[in-house]
Amino acid sequence: MNRISVTVDGTKYEDEVEPRLLLVHYLRDQLGLTGTTIGCETGNCGSCTVDLAGASVKSCLVLAVQADGSEVTTVEGLAQDGEWHPLQRSFHEQHALQCGYCTPGMIMGARDLLRHNPDPSPREIRHALKGNLCRCTGYQNIVKAVLAAAAGGEA
Ligand code: FES
Ligand code: FES
Repeated sequence: MNRISVTVDGTKYEDEVEPRLLLVHYLRDQLGLTGTTIGCETGNCGSCTVDLAGASVKSCLVLAVQADGSEVTTVEGLAQDGEWHPLQRSFHEQHALQCGYCTPGMIMGARDLLRHNPDPSPREIRHALKGNLCRCTGYQNIVKAVLAAAAGGEA
């Protein structure tokens, strides 16, 4: 077992973990933060996307021990004071989800895009989210939601 210290969504945790434990399993099973979903566990679907030390990562491709000493933000850390994050609001308003399974990863990926490119084109949004798969929506409303959040300028 390895001892790790990680700040997740603003809360500091100290835990003993197996060296082989994936970050996504640590978040979901050890911390109970099940907002981050698991679609494939092979790095293909993007549903498990989180922010690790300022970088967008697929948390099924990262070991929990690699997050030691870092800050992690999950979709559960985006709402503030009971108010949705602008991307959460725009996904809701633009009907950018059906089953919602991909949505945490889509929102985290879109958040990363807007941090680097606050005014993306539809093509840039599609390119940025190409590692995030959705089986339901056909993507059109996801692109619209990201454009709407970008137009709002607060995301
Ligand atoms: S669960 Fe991580 S990319 Fe699919
Ligand atoms: S809304 Fe169902 S997978 Fe995207």
